[in-house]
Amino acid sequence: MLLVSAPILGVPEKTALTKVIDSGWLTMGEQVRAFEQAFADVHGAEDCVAVSSCTAALHLILHALGIGPGDEVLVPSLTFVATANAVLYVGATPVFVDIESVDVPLMSIAEAEAKCTARTKAVILVHFAGYLADREQWQKFARARGLHIVEDAAHAPGLKEVGTFGAAAAFSFYGNKNMTTAEGGAVIARDAGLLETIRQARGHGMTTGTRQRLNSRTPQYDVTMLGFNYRMDELRAAIGLVQLQNLQEWNEIRRILVMLYRRLIAKHCPAVTIPFHEPRTSAYHIMPILLPRYADRQDVIDALRAQGIQTTIHYPPVHQMTLYRELIPGTHLPRTEDFAQRELTVPLHPQITAPLVETVVVALAAAVNNCAQTGTAA
Ligand SMILES: Cc1ncc(COP(=O)(O)O)c(C=O)c1O
Repeated sequence: MLLVSAPILGVPEKTALTKVIDSGWLTMGEQVRAFEQAFADVHGAEDCVAVSSCTAALHLILHALGIGPGDEVLVPSLTFVATANAVLYVGATPVFVDIESVDVPLMSIAEAEAKCTARTKAVILVHFAGYLADREQWQKFARARGLHIVEDAAHAPGLKEVGTFGAAAAFSFYGNKNMTTAEGGAVIARDAGLLETIRQARGHGMTTGTRQRLNSRTPQYDVTMLGFNYRMDELRAAIGLVQLQNLQEWNEIRRILVMLYRRLIAKHCPAVTIPFHEPRTSAYHIMPILLPRYADRQDVIDALRAQGIQTTIHYPPVHQMTLYRELIPGTHLPRTEDFAQRELTVPLHPQITAPLVETVVVALAAAVNNCAQTGTAA
């Protein structure tokens, strides 16, 4: 099966894991610290905090910003549920905002403006599929209203602009991401004070970690805030250090594959459209396409699967999930809903070759043409 995404793991990762095991120090030690410094470096940041997941990163950011009950946070619905869940974790209310258009499926500023109230405290921007939101426009929007900008950068590691939009950015190293530590995440925040609050809250609010206490030979620590256990371990950090060395090259391969997809889809199945028509900075995390309205998506999924090609959907809208329909009834986001009904994600990862892209596009063209003929016959 040609998978939508697949991690690249090999001898260097195995060697790194072995070294950690041989060292006998398994969590929050030198590997985690080295990974934090290397990850910050790649993004042109001073420092960062490695955590157990992007979900934890989002939670920690909102917590450190003091967002809580009575506050509202603008979020897209075209995202993974974690984006909105993090808002619920701190007791605030997520307010779902529609996308700009099916061509630019990023949060609409006009729509965000319309949904702002006196209770709005922050906006979480998702760089959907790796394509960056418009920094200047969002900064202007947030400044005018005194809002915090939080970036959900799960799809966009490796871009220097990420982490510079506002308060902080949250990254994911889950197995299907541009680089992986199996599970894992990180926070970049330019404000050193905010980052230190996040660092402390990651480990139960303790004033020092185990390794620091070993190095300083003082067993004392204090707890000065309510924190969490969102630590990253040494095994994950060691894998992360290896993966990070390849991130820019892998992102470049993704870019080249996306260009090829765009060219071949335009040639072989022009009825299929591809979001982000205009060039935009991207980490090319996934390859979303939009099927024509006449196409039955399930038929296309089945046809591709029969040829050994996996496809997925990004995303079933969060506001339509049972949990959110019950919590926040009556939300209607027409552009998000239209996009989500027609979207299909085709395979994109650095192990895919040009002939494989061609195979996917030929299979896609046949499946969509078949829908057109069936539609005409009906
Ligand atoms: C946009 C987005 N936000 C948040 C997450 C959550 O990441 P994690 O699994 O690392 O918590 C994901 C993961 O799929 C994601 O795609």
